[in-house]
Amino acid sequence: MNAPEKFISFAPPLIGEEEIAEAVDTLRSGWLTTGPKTEKFEKKLCEYLGAKKGVPVNSCTSALHLAVHALGLGPGQGVVTTPLTFASTAHVVMHQGARPYFVDIEPETGNLDPDEVRRFLETECERGADGRPCHKKTGDRITALLPVHYGGHAVQLDAFWQIALEYNLDMVEDAAHAIGSRYKNLPVGHPALRPKAAKHLKSFTAFSFYATKNLATGEGGFLTGPDEELVERARVMSMYGISDSRRIWGRYAPKGTWVYDVADLGFKYNMMDIQAALGLHQLEKLPKFLERRAANAAIYNEALAELDELAILPATKAYAGHAWHLYPLRLRPEALGLSRDDFIEELRGLNIGTSVLFIPLHFHSFYRKALGYGEGDFPKAEAFFKNLVNLPLSPAHSPEDIGRAAEAAAALLKKHRI
Ligand SMILES: Cc1ncc(COP(=O)(O)O)c(C=O)c1O
Repeated sequence: MNAPEKFISFAPPLIGEEEIAEAVDTLRSGWLTTGPKTEKFEKKLCEYLGAKKGVPVNSCTSALHLAVHALGLGPGQGVVTTPLTFASTAHVVMHQGARPYFVDIEPETGNLDPDEVRRFLETECERGADGRPCHKKTGDRITALLPVHYGGHAVQLDAFWQIALEYNLDMVEDAAHAIGSRYKNLPVGHPALRPKAAKHLKSFTAFSFYATKNLATGEGGFLTGPDEELVERARVMSMYGISDSRRIWGRYAPKGTWVYDVADLGFKYNMMDIQAALGLHQLEKLPKFLERRAANAAIYNEALAELDELAILPATKAYAGHAWHLYPLRLRPEALGLSRDDFIEELRGLNIGTSVLFIPLHFHSFYRKALGYGEGDFPKAEAFFKNLVNLPLSPAHSPEDIGRAAEAAAALLKKHRI
């Protein structure tokens, strides 16, 4: 069969003339980095999320790092997270000298499973004097939970907060995929999602605006949280530890001053106005993008609905408003005469791009060496990965293109039914 001409790439951004004009305006403005557009983007993002404060940064990785730094995470401490994620989630914990503890996932959503977390805390840890769990083998104090809203499907936040309350744990939500996701009708990142009883626990949510994300600024991220002081402190740390970051970007303005004080050992994680220029328009279009993503997911669901003995379609739980960052299809190897890798190659032959998100972290050489994990440690995450194909979902694709991808996937499944 001849491949159709057009390549349907996995996750292209949808950039319009508005983004282009705004970026050009920034280039012509005489100021390229953190400045008025970043400030405006921050304000709009806060409005969108219902948050009081937030810090635009240069990536979600930076946002996550600022968050775990603000928790005071350090050597001798541990953080519970999922193996089905990108390296950033665990890297930032390691950068603080602490240790990520992987716990298995819910097979339906791909999210960290709160029941598994509870089992881990009850069986592999014992209570320390401060009520926090202490890992029996390493002696590490577990101080935080770090769930990931996989693919834009919210995690069971209430269950995680219940655990956090019982064990005195802080919380960082990796919302790299979850701009536009909702949990029980509130946007992920909304301050009211932390229960009032958990006010004493530190909490942050980190978003990504990487090139493939639901809202794309090339590179970019956003950190928010219900504690305004902590978020303001993270802002200082995002800009070298300079106590008033506006002094940095405002210093060349007519009333600017050359004086500034480095008050802490901060990082260089600030967002540029060039990124914010794209973000402003991407955010305005986000509701439309989300509609298109949901419509694209519905096209796959319809084309594949009758084939559930051959492949598992992504679930949407009642508590989740899905942002459809990913469409994770999982093949059923026992029913198919074709491997996942061959399925991907056949789709590639039809000019359809896919991805596999994620290779579990404990399969990577660094994490095997650093943490001593190995194959078999997280069977549900491993089974999820081994049968996983993420299909293209971007709103940049027309319904016809997604229809072509959906039909190709359905035809392949049928052809290789055992
Ligand atoms: C789950 C998850 N967390 C964190 C990140 C890091 O995001 P960024 O590239 O903005 O640093 C990614 C990136 O793809 C991700 O998928």
